[in-house]
Amino acid sequence: MHVYAVALEKGGVGKTSIAVNLAVAFALVDLKVLLIDLDAQCHASQWLGVQIDQVRPDDSMLGVVQGRPLAECIRPTQENVAVVPAHPAMVGLPAMLVSAPNSGIFALKNALDKAQASGAGHDIVILDLAPARGPVQATALAAATRCIAPVQAEDLVLQSLKALIDSVDQAHQINPRLRGVSVVRNRYALRGTVDHAYDQALCDEYGPQLLRTILPTRAALRHAAGVQQSVFRYASPDAAEVRTLFIELVDELLQLDEAA
Ligand SMILES: Nc1ncnc2c1ncn2[C@@H]1O[C@H](COP(=O)(O)OP(=O)(O)OP(=O)(O)O)[C@@H](O)[C@H]1O
Ligand SMILES: [Mg+2]
Repeated sequence: MHVYAVALEKGGVGKTSIAVNLAVAFALVDLKVLLIDLDAQCHASQWLGVQIDQVRPDDSMLGVVQGRPLAECIRPTQENVAVVPAHPAMVGLPAMLVSAPNSGIFALKNALDKAQASGAGHDIVILDLAPARGPVQATALAAATRCIAPVQAEDLVLQSLKALIDSVDQAHQINPRLRGVSVVRNRYALRGTVDHAYDQALCDEYGPQLLRTILPTRAALRHAAGVQQSVFRYASPDAAEVRTLFIELVDELLQLDEAA
């Protein structure tokens, strides 16, 4: 089981766009995929077609932290990806974790391990995180085998990346299965000398962690979210290019994890 935590404290960098479309791409290569929406904004759940008014708080990670088996929270979607949906009441999740035994740090890891042991596990689990550090991210990193960080060509994003790498280094002490951070360049266009200088700085500092696949800005990604479809279902002129890139990302991640 590979558990990918898609994280970065900086908002709007493409975490949910990558989490949802990567999940569907993994399902298309015949892997059994679960997406766990850990963001009270519920964007990933909605993108996968879940109607949030039909989700109860304890159908979400709030239930899992209180000991509800993961299998009871999982629901199918039309994209062949199972989902544990989020609920707006998850704004209270950090406080719930802090007051749980051991700050709930192993709540997700234990739930995933139990599901795996009962034969109800998944090949791939993708965790979509909110733009925040704190207890939810810590719980996700304690369960993850790899962290995926989307970055754009902006200095503030690099500060968040540095903070995330520090958090992953800390998490590694309690989760030896966590292999580190892989960086995806998203909404990336090398337009001028400033962008090239930024990319060079990124390569110099984080070269071994950079994934080869680079996602450009494409309308298909923005519009697919609006109609609650992945880019694999959404028909538009630039969707084919984006699909190819997500399949490349799948291959790259599987190769990395098989080599590890
Ligand atoms: N490669 C891309 N091309 C075009 N639009 C994109 C791309 N990546 C992300 N977007 C758009 O940017 C916005 C933010 O993306 P997204 O919601 O995935 O970011 P996020 O990191 O999950 O945000 P948050 O931090 O709020 O959870 C959305 O409107 C999304 O459609
Ligand atoms: Mg998001």
